[in-house]
Amino acid sequence: LPRLFSGMQPSAASLHLGNYAGALLQWRDMQATHDAVFCVVDLHAITVPQDPAALREQTRRTAAQYIAAGIDPEHSTLFVQSHVSAHAQLAWVLNTITGFGEASRMTQFKDKSAKGGADLASVGLFTYPILQAADILLYDAVVVPVGEDQRQHIELTRDLAARFNARFGNTLVVPEVRILKETAKIYDLQNPGSKMSKSGESPAGILWLMDEPSVLTKKVKSAVTDSSGVVAYDPAEKPGVSNLLSILSLLTGQSMDALVASFDGLQYGALKTAVAEAVVEAFEPIRTRTLELLDDPAELDRLLAINADRASVIADATLARVYDALGFLPRA
Ligand code: TYM
Repeated sequence: LPRLFSGMQPSAASLHLGNYAGALLQWRDMQATHDAVFCVVDLHAITVPQDPAALREQTRRTAAQYIAAGIDPEHSTLFVQSHVSAHAQLAWVLNTITGFGEASRMTQFKDKSAKGGADLASVGLFTYPILQAADILLYDAVVVPVGEDQRQHIELTRDLAARFNARFGNTLVVPEVRILKETAKIYDLQNPGSKMSKSGESPAGILWLMDEPSVLTKKVKSAVTDSSGVVAYDPAEKPGVSNLLSILSLLTGQSMDALVASFDGLQYGALKTAVAEAVVEAFEPIRTRTLELLDDPAELDRLLAINADRASVIADATLARVYDALGFLPRA
């Protein structure tokens, strides 16, 4: 089966609808047709200030949410990045073939560092995309399912793999990005000009997988719309309403045309009610299952350890190939 790799940061106590739509839903479905490797990228999470106790807890919670959303840790490989040392090792190697200017052009770094000021941005935040490239290349992944915001990082990954191969001989697999058009970007409910983000500024605009049904409903009902009163899909003119329609289309599987037609003559209130119901129906089983899994952290840790062993076998073999190609003296 073709190998798939993807990951998420454990940078909050819950994943959100953007993570679910852009990544988790694709991941779940692609397990049937791919040798899937899913990572909780804790090394990435320390590129911004974080609290150690929270990081540990969030790492477990993120893994539990993957499983609760349908990732099967018996069938796919689901592991924690820091458990496999090859990630940091390959990242170092890739650092040495990345141009400073090339890394400087990464828009996520520019956005994130602009928020805190250049002095608060760490060198780790700067080299973040290079670690991400290492994640993917270690597993010889042919496909990387992500949301739109990751496109540039996957492009960099492809460039680095091709460059390494050109300099040192064919060693790394050049992966393809997979972004679903309909779910590529989910927007903040309070601020439909910005993507829904773990670090979003408006708490009411983010739908967390672990939110209680009443909280989800309240957030959807207070989503920003517009004053035209007509339910229509027009992302440029009606970003709030269009975002709600995208969410509903994604969760119900209905086409946009059919969906818009079904609201003909109805008000935004009806749309919001339908969205709230669909979100609660999708999230509530995941929340409940996550809490059950978290009730037995020892079992969760045991699963993660077995999966890290599986991941290490693949990653160490790739790293050995890379070291050999580079001309490192083998340890006798
Ligand atoms: P992260 O943790 O920010 O996001 C995880 C996944 O969720 C997608 N996503 C969204 N999709 C649609 N709408 C949104 N509003 C939205 N917000 C987030 C992201 O595109 C992503 O697929 N750098 C990665 C983590 C990573 C990774 C990797 C991913 C590290 N190594 C290797 C793939 C392969 C990140 O920050 O994801």
